[in-house]
Amino acid sequence: MLPAIHDTGTGEAVLFLHAFTLDASQWDHQVAALSGDMRCVRVDFWGCGTSPPPPAGEPSLEGFARSVIAVLDARHIDRVALVGLSMGGYLAFALWRLAPERIRALVLCNTRATADADGPRTDRLVMAERVERERSVESIVEPMVARMLSPGAQAEAHIVDPVRGRIRRCTPAGIAFAQRAMAARPDSTGLLASIDVPALVIAGTEDAIVATPEVRAIRGGIPGARYLELDCGHLSNLERPGAFNRHLTEFLAPARMAS
Ligand code: MLT
Repeated sequence: MLPAIHDTGTGEAVLFLHAFTLDASQWDHQVAALSGDMRCVRVDFWGCGTSPPPPAGEPSLEGFARSVIAVLDARHIDRVALVGLSMGGYLAFALWRLAPERIRALVLCNTRATADADGPRTDRLVMAERVERERSVESIVEPMVARMLSPGAQAEAHIVDPVRGRIRRCTPAGIAFAQRAMAARPDSTGLLASIDVPALVIAGTEDAIVATPEVRAIRGGIPGARYLELDCGHLSNLERPGAFNRHLTEFLAPARMAS
C-alpha cells in the first residue's frame, strides 16, 4: 500500500512533506504559486488526509520515507527538490540517508536535526496512547493549534479553521504512528555536513515547537546553506505565504529555468 499522492503541474519536480497532524493541503499556497511551471508532488502521511492507515509493525519515519521513494518510482520521478516542514524535515533527513541521489535541492522549514530528549519522547508516547484510548483526535485539536500557530495567526479564521480541519481528518492510528515514529527517529546532526545540494533553511521567530537556535544549527551544519527567518509561528508557509513563496520561488529558480 502506498501513501496518497497529489501531483499537480508539469516541469521539474518539487516534493512537499507536511508537518505532524496536518496533510498535503498544508502546501496549497505553494502549489498555487509554483505549479504553473513545476511539478508539485505532495504525499499524505499514514492516516492523514486521504492516505491509508499505517502499516503493521514498528513505526518508523524511515519506513515512510521508503514508501515515498516507492511513490516517486511509481510516477517515474527521478530527482526532486524536497521541501519539508517540521516532521516533513525529519522525513527529509530520512530520505537523504536512504537516497541522496534522488534529491537535487533541500528546503528545511521549522525543523531540527536532533533526536528527542527523554521528556519530549515520553510526551509523544503519552499522546499516542491517549488518542488510541479515546479513539478520537478531538482532545489534541486545540492544544496543537495553540502550539503550531502564533497568537496573531490563531486570531485569523482563514488560517486557523483549515488547520483544525486538517487535524480532525487525521485518524488516531495515524497520530499514534507518527508520534511513535518521531520518538524513535535517530539524530541527524552528523548527516548535515554530507548535504552537498543547494539548501534553504527557514525558521519562524515565534515558533513554539522548534526554537530558532535549533533551526540555525541546521544552517550552520550544511555547507553553504541559505537561511531565512520569518516573523511567524511554527507553520511558516501558512502564516507567511507571500514571503515564503517569494523566497522559495527565488531559491528554486535555476530548476524552473531548466524545465
Ligand atoms: C510537526 O509540526 O511536524 C511536529 O510538531 C514536530 C514535532 O512534534 O517534533
